[in-house]
Amino acid sequence: MSKLDEILGEAQAAFAAVDSLPALDQAKARFIGKSGLITEQMKGLGALAPEARKAAGAQINQVKDQVEALLKARREAIQAAQLERQLKEESLDVTLPGRGEAMGGLHPVTLALERIEALFATIGFAVADGPEVETDFYNFTALNIPEDHPARAMHDTFYVEDGQLLRTHTSPVQVHYMQDHQPPIRIIAPGRVFRVDSDATHSPMFHQVEGLWVDEQASFANLKGVIQDFLQRFFERDDLRVRFRPSFFPFTEPSAEMDMSWGDGWLEIGGCGMVHPNVFGHVGIDPERYQGFAFGLGVERLAMLRYGVDDLRLFFENDLRFLKQFA
Ligand code: PHE
Repeated sequence: MSKLDEILGEAQAAFAAVDSLPALDQAKARFIGKSGLITEQMKGLGALAPEARKAAGAQINQVKDQVEALLKARREAIQAAQLERQLKEESLDVTLPGRGEAMGGLHPVTLALERIEALFATIGFAVADGPEVETDFYNFTALNIPEDHPARAMHDTFYVEDGQLLRTHTSPVQVHYMQDHQPPIRIIAPGRVFRVDSDATHSPMFHQVEGLWVDEQASFANLKGVIQDFLQRFFERDDLRVRFRPSFFPFTEPSAEMDMSWGDGWLEIGGCGMVHPNVFGHVGIDPERYQGFAFGLGVERLAMLRYGVDDLRLFFENDLRFLKQFA
């Protein structure tokens, strides 16, 4: 009798001391398992007289029932506690304020390029592109700049492997395009160009937009009209004027430097001219039948003026305080 009470007390303490299901199963084995304390009590019954055995057996069974009830209660308590813990850990406070989204923005040079493309698209210019790593032929020879021509000194060139080079202007795209297309041709070719040049107003990498219009009647007057119309719309200023100064490029004849009015003065924004017959000769377009004009605009210059940026280097330093202003 007292032994059974002892076992019951021990079971109660053992179950209360554990707080996981595996540990509870282990504790259970100490009492109800094959060699558990209650099972041992059962085995002892064989030695008793039949009458005493019946009474003792009933007592043992009663204690066994009690132990099992304790076990069940403890198991439920442990499961409830686990559920509680899990609910707490996995809970989500949907009333908290959101973290918000940091919106990125386009680089001002990209903004300018997109604006340029959109404006030229309205007057029928398609967008073309070409490789940044070029051969001597496309960057120079086909543009009527043969070897030893003094005009090569105008471009300080980065040479890469196998005699290839980083294009020094977007004009080689003219050559690629005219090799593949017959007139009428009306394209712009925006892109990166590279020159060995680096100071406050020159970056070794910068952007140009090449323009090319070839048809039976594309004239120098059309060229000036296209440029002036584009600049007036780009800067949203009807009073903006364009001035051409005679200049020289081997791939155009005649050639001009383009200035636009700005404040009290003039600012240079690129070069232009009528496509040289020798260039047509390199790409198989008949110069007796067709003529055309080409121009090259400096994109950083346009972006600086449009967005009020006073130092070219800001475009390439990737300072977030600068870039965020365009988001
Ligand atoms: N490629 C010339 C430059 O980089 C610009 C230009 C383009 C001039 C087209 C005439 C015609 O300076």
